[in-house]
Amino acid sequence: MKISIIGAGYVGLVTGACLAFRGHRITCVDKKPEVVKAINTMRSPLHEPGLEDILRQAGQRGYLQAQTEIKSAVIDADVVIIAVGTPSCDQGIDLSHVLDCAREIGTALKEKQDYCVVAVKSTVVPTTTGTAVRAALEAGSGRKAGEFGLAMNPEFLREGNAVEDFMYPDRIVIGGFDQQSFSVMEKVYAGFDAPIVRVDLATAEMIKYASNALLAVLISYSNEIASICEAAGKIDVRDVLEAVTLDKRFNPRVQGELVNPGLISYLRAGCGFGGSCFPKDLSALAAFSRGRGYEPRILEAVLRINHDQPHKVTSALQRRLGSLDGRKIAVLGLSFKPGTDDVRETPSLPIITDFLAAKAEVVGVDPYACDNMSRIISPQENLTFTRDWKAALQGAEAAVLVTPWPEYMEISGETFRSLMKNVLIMDCRRVLNREPLEALGCQYLGIGLNIDEGLGDHG
Ligand code: NAD
Ligand code: UGA
Repeated sequence: MKISIIGAGYVGLVTGACLAFRGHRITCVDKKPEVVKAINTMRSPLHEPGLEDILRQAGQRGYLQAQTEIKSAVIDADVVIIAVGTPSCDQGIDLSHVLDCAREIGTALKEKQDYCVVAVKSTVVPTTTGTAVRAALEAGSGRKAGEFGLAMNPEFLREGNAVEDFMYPDRIVIGGFDQQSFSVMEKVYAGFDAPIVRVDLATAEMIKYASNALLAVLISYSNEIASICEAAGKIDVRDVLEAVTLDKRFNPRVQGELVNPGLISYLRAGCGFGGSCFPKDLSALAAFSRGRGYEPRILEAVLRINHDQPHKVTSALQRRLGSLDGRKIAVLGLSFKPGTDDVRETPSLPIITDFLAAKAEVVGVDPYACDNMSRIISPQENLTFTRDWKAALQGAEAAVLVTPWPEYMEISGETFRSLMKNVLIMDCRRVLNREPLEALGCQYLGIGLNIDEGLGDHG
């Protein structure tokens, strides 16, 4: 099939490269010329494991090309997928990119003879596709939905695992306007080994939000239990949650073996969720809900807990070190999670901002995200960014692990000791082994363990 994808960011480009790999002819459209140029020279404009390999293969076979112009991409396509961003705004969700695209696609449809399905892959609040997107397409084309197809096909990939998640999805959700839209979209995914969930447009939109909301609820639940453990003192949230998840309703045994579902990884306490999706999608769903007259209490609490979580870090260090004025702190990890260079809503931003307010000298380290981070907070007198974790640790009085990149998890106690002036390690993701570090005389602070003074002491 000929498929055009509007928006070549994390979702659009991965979708394009993976569908090209599956044998479709793909045109990626992005308004940024530098993104188009990178794709056409078979380079990935963003860091995503495995993406450049399949981009190169698709490009070499002539199955994928990119351009900045929407019209010719639509005229040529059997399916047009909208994958542009849907950022937050005061009203909840900013649909302007999606609706700009829909208007341009509509105008192009006017000149198109053949039937074509327009599918929204961007995350949009329920009813958007069937109302605002449909209206923009109809106004632009002068045709009625049905004369062109309309679908909502949410995406569930995770950054850092995006290629694998797309190639081997858990489920493919297709919201369809009519039978023909379903049939065409099912051909897009022919050969994928996953259940296809056929629903109406608004249900597909809601499934996407409900999925992200559930994961975010689990994270804030873990962080709330962590805070209670800290307040109690001498209770390690890691021990607590590990035992909780042995419940067979989370962790069934099949033929005597624990299955250990991936969902359990969301029951790990830390400094909060970031990224381009959980924070904005929960805010958008909450705003949508309020707009429809229902006050979303759980979503509000999840967002509040998540907002507070990174702000605990500075006060915990101040309790141990006293004033941070002029003291060097290494922040290990800038991206919102390992495996990506994406820094949208990364917890390292509030952590760094708090350290700067306390007049610390901050060095942020990341293998891929330094450039993106410099765009959201400029390097300044007390703030530098580097890829070199050894240089960052040299002479530091605290190391704060924010993003669990594998190379930071492998730093040994000996190495910390040889580089740092004072070996205080703050584990904001609970991924380091405390005992060997403490055995070497390093001070270890962990969220959900001992970052608070502890209100209770029960020996
Ligand atoms: P992104 O910001 O990485 O990419 C969007 C791209 O669209 C940009 O390159 C931008 O230049 C381009 N664009 C914007 N308007 C355009 C226009 N009018 N014409 C052509 N190009 C245009 O965004 P993303 O992270 O890929 O997210 C896209 C959507 O997918 C969002 O709704 C997001 O919520 C959803 N989503 C994202 C993820 C993820 O992991 N990032 C996962 C699932 C769903
Ligand atoms: C998430 C979902 O997992 C995807 O299914 C979804 O498609 C995507 O959002 C989206 O809609 O964009 P992603 O944001 O890439 O994917 O990454 P996750 O691995 O889910 O992590 C999100 C954030 O939660 C990260 O900051 C991570 O550090 C944090 N997290 C995760 C925790 O704080 N604790 C955990 O136990 C797990």
